Amino acid sequence: MHQHHRALGLAPQSTAVRGGIDIAKGGPVQPVTLVRPHAAARAARFFSEKFPGRSMYAVKANPSPELLQILWDNGITHYDVASLAEVRLVARTLPGATLCFMHPVKAEEAVREAYATHGVRTFSLDSIEELDKIMRATGNATDLTLCVRLRVSSEHSKLSLASKFGVAPNEAKELLFAARQAADALGICFHVGSQAMTPDAYADAMERVRAAIVDAAVTVDVIDVGGGFPSSYPGMEPPPLERYFETIHRAFESLPISYSAELWAEPGRALCAEYSSVVVRVERRRGNELYINDGAYGALFDAAHIGWRFPVTLLREPESTVRDHPFSFYGPTCDDLDHMAGPFLLPADVQAGDYIEIGMLGAYGSAMRTAFNGFGSDETVIVDDEPMVSLYDAIEQDNAVRSGAVRGGADIASNVAKL
Ligand SMILES: Cc1ncc(COP(=O)(O)O)c(C=O)c1O
Repeated sequence: MHQHHRALGLAPQSTAVRGGIDIAKGGPVQPVTLVRPHAAARAARFFSEKFPGRSMYAVKANPSPELLQILWDNGITHYDVASLAEVRLVARTLPGATLCFMHPVKAEEAVREAYATHGVRTFSLDSIEELDKIMRATGNATDLTLCVRLRVSSEHSKLSLASKFGVAPNEAKELLFAARQAADALGICFHVGSQAMTPDAYADAMERVRAAIVDAAVTVDVIDVGGGFPSSYPGMEPPPLERYFETIHRAFESLPISYSAELWAEPGRALCAEYSSVVVRVERRRGNELYINDGAYGALFDAAHIGWRFPVTLLREPESTVRDHPFSFYGPTCDDLDHMAGPFLLPADVQAGDYIEIGMLGAYGSAMRTAFNGFGSDETVIVDDEPMVSLYDAIEQDNAVRSGAVRGGADIASNVAKL
């Protein structure tokens, strides 16, 4: 199946497309996003089956309606939304979904519409002002789940979320107490920062939670460990996700909370990073610098602004046999900041006219795209090959072998391809 689609509608075509090389053969002038529904489905099944609580998808990571549908079809029933536009989008796309408004600083009008029109009952907050706002906007509702966001360290994560939100430990008692009076169910949430490279991030944060519960002496109904679950990028290969789940489960079980308390998580990146990649064209080579047609204002925001490296492949047939060499990229706009330092390892003979596939852009890639300077494309094609890197394929292979469903490598390969 070969489907070109714009963000909100699919327009089926007839050719079979397996991967990036097929796209490159067509000689696209604009960058093309390749999406892999099987990869997102696999991640969703993994979280819904193995996380020892409820996984809600953090929509900001990638709000594509097609992706939302895939996650829903594979067991994700709850969605962390952070703006009214996200509330409306998910309510429209997945009418049966449960929405949780987890931005700690919301517009009062947004809370009002979320509550009255879209049935949102769960809100996060990190101040008394926000609590007052939520109560005003919902007419002092008595059916709310209020999650107090604690400030925790981001020291184990690649992207800090420790400054902007979260009540400081010395102010948590008062807020937890006030929220307890107003809430039907009281939750405590936190975010350890994105791309947490060790499960210790959650163990440490849970210690903060324990201290806050003991200090405030309130009954807590929900512990929400937020996002931060990692994906695999060059130079950032995390431990298996199961280890994170085990650490969280152990810490949750030892908290002073009631037996009926629920454990939640808000994975964004880990559910969608493997979902898409982008095929770009090299417009010019200047020494070790490649001028490509996507960049900092497109899907490569993180590569430009925080220096992340992403896996890359030269899409050429026959394949280049020249050894790899480190390159940096310039994006298409007229801005010096449109620069991705990399290094990105590609065969040393890469040249203008070549196509490159950049992997692992499903999270915070297409979501961050702009049309600055007249560049940017939303051409999207569904492909069925494997993502360049996966935290999940080995797990599925292991399961298949353990269940005796497959006999050898060839069986495993065909099994994975069908997922
Ligand atoms: C409240 C909240 N939850 C979840 C997430 C998702 O985080 P991640 O993509 O690291 O899993 C974010 C990301 O910023 C967030 O702000």
